Amino acid sequence: MANVKFYAGESFPLEMHKVRIIQKLNLIPVEERGKAIAGAGNNTFLLNNRDVFMDMLTDSGVNAMSDRQLASMMKADDSYAGSETFTRLDKSVKHFFGCKYFLPAHQGRACENILSQTFVKPGYVVPMNYHFTTAKALITVNGGTVEELIIDEGLKIRSECPFKGDIDIGRLKEVIKRYGADKVAYVRMEAGTNLVGGQPFSLANYEEVSKLCRASKIPLVLDASLLADNLYFNKRREERCKKMTLHEIVLKFAELSDIIYFSARKLGFARGGGICTNDHDIFLRLRELVPLFEGFLTYGGMSVREMEAIAVGLDETLDEDMISQGPIFIDYMVKELDKRGIPVITPPGGLGCHIDAMAFLDHIPQEQYPAGALGSAYFIASGIRGMERGTLSEQRDPDGKEHFSNMELLRLALPRRVFTLSQVNYAIDRLVWLYENRRLVEGLRFVEEPRILRFFFGRLEPVSGWQGKLIEKFRKDFGDSL
Ligand code: F0G
Repeated sequence: MANVKFYAGESFPLEMHKVRIIQKLNLIPVEERGKAIAGAGNNTFLLNNRDVFMDMLTDSGVNAMSDRQLASMMKADDSYAGSETFTRLDKSVKHFFGCKYFLPAHQGRACENILSQTFVKPGYVVPMNYHFTTAKALITVNGGTVEELIIDEGLKIRSECPFKGDIDIGRLKEVIKRYGADKVAYVRMEAGTNLVGGQPFSLANYEEVSKLCRASKIPLVLDASLLADNLYFNKRREERCKKMTLHEIVLKFAELSDIIYFSARKLGFARGGGICTNDHDIFLRLRELVPLFEGFLTYGGMSVREMEAIAVGLDETLDEDMISQGPIFIDYMVKELDKRGIPVITPPGGLGCHIDAMAFLDHIPQEQYPAGALGSAYFIASGIRGMERGTLSEQRDPDGKEHFSNMELLRLALPRRVFTLSQVNYAIDRLVWLYENRRLVEGLRFVEEPRILRFFFGRLEPVSGWQGKLIEKFRKDFGDSL
């Protein structure tokens, strides 16, 4: 987005693109929203999108594509092996990361599966700045454990720390010493750290991690799924990066990594994924699993059209006008909510706006899932679906005890280039209303609880009749408004 001064003094996000394809949205009445969320077991994953007004569940695979991406999809070369499309994607990925080898996979967690199966064994550990749900589940399924070593500031809701995704180097050293370097499968650093509010890490921190890993001969794995946001913040917030081009920053990150993987549902604004490395032995080990789980080496489970779109999308990731749209909209939303006293994660990060449900609904105990309850209440209030990122998104401990999350967040993702500022203002308005009526909201309890990744398809019910009261209050305050 451009640095344009407004004559009136106050500035607003200004899009450097125009909308040329639209999709009609539905905003169903509040009573229908109540029925829809009850039918979905109070789990926003289980809503039908036709009942949703703004889909802020995720930015995964739902970012708006550019005209260049759509045009590229028309020239896809459909071939099982050796397609022209793969050649273009391969060239684009290798140029972007400056790496020698690239393996395609159908999405990010497929890469995590390949990495975990290759490196993780019972008794091994994977230290990381912070976990992502699928990354952790795939490590533990293979008998490994996860050590989360994000700096203390990273877990504070309100902070001015520009790089809350940094890892604590002292604790990393301690963990390597405690387990022994040979039991450390790899160190995983997640760009745009998802579960703590889309918070970036600094290039300086990554350099230190890399130095430590190289000295201990431990592979350093970069999860680059949210690299676009991270890059934007490196460029804006880190002095030395101000002088570098976006591509120079990417190449520096790549040089410091042994393996890079990404979900192209995020990086590249399409749908797919892949793994890169410069190490021939690592490449050969990982390669074995691609045809087994993904598909042949020249498509890895992706459609050729998506592969074409990723190739162009990566190129566009090096354009600051393109990658700044998300962070700038998020910055606007976070600051507007903050001004109105609504508890949000600060500083604004990437991915979306993260509401602190523990403070918003401080009367709901963690065992009644405040972030899940907030997601359900917000859908009723607005027709907007967010995603619970709290205790529901955790797995129970092996002894069946609830594993309370460090943070109880409602994530409102801002898929890039999808929503307009007036829609964001609507999202803010309904949150303000809900905040004023927060005492009407109560907790949730499970009626159906899957063992693994329960947040995807678990079903819950309200602990009382609070949803009916919320709907009544909405009608009282808004009359016949949708
Ligand atoms: N790593 C990160 C940092 C992610 O955010 C995701 C997905 C993955 C890996 C897995 O990639 O979905 O392509 O298999 N995040 C999505 C989200 C699901 O909604 O935040 P995937």
